[in-house]
Amino acid sequence: MEEIFDNVFEHEGRILTRNAVPGSKVYGENLIRISGTEYRAWNPRRSKLCAAIKNGLKNNPIKRNSVVLYLGASTGTTPSHLSDILTSGGLYAVEISAHSMKTLIALCEKRRNMLPILADARNPQTYSEVGKVDIVYEDVASPEQADILLKNCRAFLKKGGCAMIAIKSQSIDVTKSPEQIYAEVEKELSKELEVLERVNLEPFEMDHLFLVLRKRE
Ligand SMILES: C[S@@+](CC[C@H](N)C(=O)[O-])C[C@H]1O[C@@H](n2cnc3c(N)ncnc32)[C@H](O)[C@@H]1O
Repeated sequence: MEEIFDNVFEHEGRILTRNAVPGSKVYGENLIRISGTEYRAWNPRRSKLCAAIKNGLKNNPIKRNSVVLYLGASTGTTPSHLSDILTSGGLYAVEISAHSMKTLIALCEKRRNMLPILADARNPQTYSEVGKVDIVYEDVASPEQADILLKNCRAFLKKGGCAMIAIKSQSIDVTKSPEQIYAEVEKELSKELEVLERVNLEPFEMDHLFLVLRKRE
């Protein structure tokens, strides 16, 4: 088994995180015991960050002690793996849907490094108590994806901190090609953030591009 990023492991072709709540599954993932430790198999078809890792992501700025602001947490599939990774850090999980929030709150009760926030990520002033963070991660599938990321980075991201975003071209404009959308979103984001890496998420997710960016010092 190899540790490919902080607290992210690769074993026999699978990406794993160490289960912070042994015996407990979040989304039906496989639990695997290796040398007395329980790991959760991270499914690249259910999590865009795992899809990016499977597709060769080189820059993963999420360290074990990072503080992450996660926008579009849904019921917590990807956030739960971040919770495994952030053994001395934590994450704020912002979600707009009250329905998803019920499941997310139950997850956060078991995982003490996750804090749920029921809010619209278009309005960061409504959760200003978050303060400065190392990473802003966005997976909201909204036509305003770029604007949402920039607003949240302006409000919360430390200088030199990183942003990560899964761009879903179909949510932005179905009349344009994915490549055209990606170029437009990158141009918008590049005004304030430096693009470090771009990873196409096929075959795990169609018409999705994953970007890692950094706030200029
Ligand atoms: C693709 S799902 C996220 C899946 C999740 N990131 C994961 O990997 O486990 C997108 C989520 O964004 C939420 N969302 C959409 N618009 C939002 C907004 N303006 N503010 C906060 N959440 C939003 C949706 O309710 C949905 O739960």
